[in-house]
This record gives sequence, structure tokens and C-alpha cells, in this order.
Amino acid sequence: MLSTKTIMDIETIRKDFPILQRKVHGKPLVYFDNAATSQKPKQVIEAIEFYYKNYNANIHRSIHQLGEEATAKYEEAHQKVADFINADSYQNIIFTKNTTESLNLAAYSLTSNLKKGDEIVISQMEHHSNLVPWQQLAKQRGLKLKFIEIDEDGNLDKNSIEKNITKKTRIVSLTHVSNVLGTINPIEKITKIAHENNALMVVDGAQAAPHMPVDVKKLDADFYAFSGHKMLGPTGIGVLYGKKELLDEMQPFLYGGEMIREVTFGDTKFNDLPWKFEAGTMNIAEGIGLGAAMDYLGKVGMKHVQQRDKELTNYAMKRLKEVKEAKIYGPEERGAVISFNLNNIHPHDVAQVLDSEGVAIRAGHHCCMPLMSVLKVPATARASFYLYNTEKEVDVFINAIGKVKKVFGV
Ligand code: ALA
Repeated sequence: MLSTKTIMDIETIRKDFPILQRKVHGKPLVYFDNAATSQKPKQVIEAIEFYYKNYNANIHRSIHQLGEEATAKYEEAHQKVADFINADSYQNIIFTKNTTESLNLAAYSLTSNLKKGDEIVISQMEHHSNLVPWQQLAKQRGLKLKFIEIDEDGNLDKNSIEKNITKKTRIVSLTHVSNVLGTINPIEKITKIAHENNALMVVDGAQAAPHMPVDVKKLDADFYAFSGHKMLGPTGIGVLYGKKELLDEMQPFLYGGEMIREVTFGDTKFNDLPWKFEAGTMNIAEGIGLGAAMDYLGKVGMKHVQQRDKELTNYAMKRLKEVKEAKIYGPEERGAVISFNLNNIHPHDVAQVLDSEGVAIRAGHHCCMPLMSVLKVPATARASFYLYNTEKEVDVFINAIGKVKKVFGV
């Protein structure tokens, strides 16, 4: 386990991540695809293994020792997430499959009461998971979907915020940190504007919760969604935080086992929060694994994670700017994400040559096709960092970009 003495001792942290020891094409792995998914420390892997080896059982239904232990750990994981984002209680924390499911839950439940012509405001930089649900539900229910524009730097345009959020707005749903541009949006300010207009505020925190302290009370957002797998946890577990009074009023998104209190042939009374929204056998091992990830990040301290991300991203920005063929997208002040293109070389080709040097990045539209049309590119290459990455790895990445230039003769 980490001790407080080793806070942000990167070499100690790296030893917790078995995968970082491996080689790719004979080269040490440089993993810069953290915005897609993070690597997992042994503490998380072992928590999952320990569950399966020692107390695997279904939760909330089995009156035996194993069932009691599994239920206690799964419930404890909700409390750990609540503490991590400074929510009042585990009752505010719904476990889902991922951010996408969390946003779908919010979108389906919140739009069910809207009237034809009601407006929903999102932005041009949204991931498909915070765009397609609102777009499709708006079509089905006769709602109007509006988009806050981005300015030349890749920030939300201030005038466009004011212009789009009005008394007709019922829901504003925005990303906290852009997975392409790295833009850190002023969620606290926009939430205030949304609330002044009696609109609800939903936040896609997929790229923020892993990288910075998130305080849902301070943000005052009504809903906050994120995924476990981008913050050292396993895949298959996501979170939707919601204000209790709103969750109490909302219809469940999935009906079935364990989300009920009483069922007759004619009707159903729903369970207490958060179980009302957790139907069927949930991802128990993954929930417990997320609890272990919360412990790990809590020990390192999110302020330290944020500071370290900033240091490393600044260094990578400085090094990438030295490559005169590189066009970088997004503002100077950003999260741990750098999207770029190298002249007219296709980003997939860039990623392939980098891979041959052991450097893993993502290339493509990053589930943001509409944003690509605003940037007037079909795709970008993207390097994204996390707490175990180093300056030395950034140097390997920059040298590998030199190889890309050589291969393509630029
Ligand atoms: N949303 C993830 C990404 O940006 C998958 O790569």
C-alpha cells in the first residue's frame, strides 16, 4: 500500500502497476491512452481477486455469511465514492455500467416529464455519450436541442453560453473536461446560470473525476456522471451522482429484480435510493474494485494527482510545440489531454508508427464526430496522461514523433 511518505513518488507508484513492466514490440510500454482507459494498480486487481476467491455471492438477497460480506463491501464502495466527490450520502450514488449509461439514465428519466418545445442545451465539444441520448430523445419527444459554440481557443464561447441558456431551457448537460481539447469548463458558473433559469444541470465528469478534486456540493450540479475504468478501477462500473430530492422524484430507468420494495400483479413500489436505480444483479466485483480505486486515489490525494497532471501536460505541451509540423488543438490551460495532427499525415498512421516504438496513443474522432467537423478535421492523434507517466516517457514520445516524420518524409 502507498504510505503518505511516498505521495507522488512516481517510481513507487509505477511499481503498483504490473502492466507498466511489459514491453511492446520489444520497447518499454509508454501508455499515453489514459483518457480512453487507465491502467490498474495491483491493489485494485487484488481486491477483485480476493472477492472472487473468498466471498463471492450475490448482494442484497442472500442470507448467509458470504452474501452479508459481499453486500457490506458493495455498499461500502458507494460510501467511498460519495466521500470521494463530497456527496452527502451513499444514497446519492447510483452504480451503472459506465458514464454512457449514467448519462442515458439521466436523459431518459429527466426528459420523460418535458413538454414539446422545451429546450435542452449541450455544447459542440460533447462526447457522443452526452450528445446522442439528448439528440435522440429530443427527436422522439419534440424537444429542442441547442449547442453552445466553442471559440477559437477551444473554450466554450461566453456569449454563446448566455445566448443559449434561457427561461426555455429545462436541462443543461456539459462535459467538465473535454476528452479531445482538454478544455476545463467553468461548471460552477454555468450551473449558476442554469439554476437562475430554473434548468437542471447535468455534468459528464468522465475526464474530470479521475484527474482533479471534484466537490459536488461546491459545483452544485444536479447530476454528475463518471466511469470507474478511467480512474484506476475496472471496466463495467460507472457512477451517476444525483441530488436526493431529484432522484426521489425520478422514474427508474431499468425495472426488475432488487429495485423493488413490493410487487403485486397490478403495481410495484420501488426500493430506497440508490437501489431503486440498480436493477438486477449488479457488477459486484467491479463495484468493489472501484472502492479499492477510491482508496488508492484518496491516499495519493486528488490535489497531488491534479498538480502532477498539470506538470506533465505542461512539459508535453512544451516539447510538442518544438515540433513545428504539429498542430495542437485546444486551450493552453487544460486537462491531461493533448490532441494534435502532424501536417497531413493521417492520425492512424501517426499512432501506428508510435506503437512500433512502444508508445500507445489514441487516433480517430474520439467519439466526437460533430466536434471534428467544427475543427475541420476528420480525426486527430491524442496523447493523454495519468499519475504514473513520466517526463522521460514524454521524451520517448517526442523521439517517436521524429520517427513518424522520417517515415513520411516531412
Ligand atoms: N471516451 C473515451 C475516450 O475519449 C473512450 O477515449
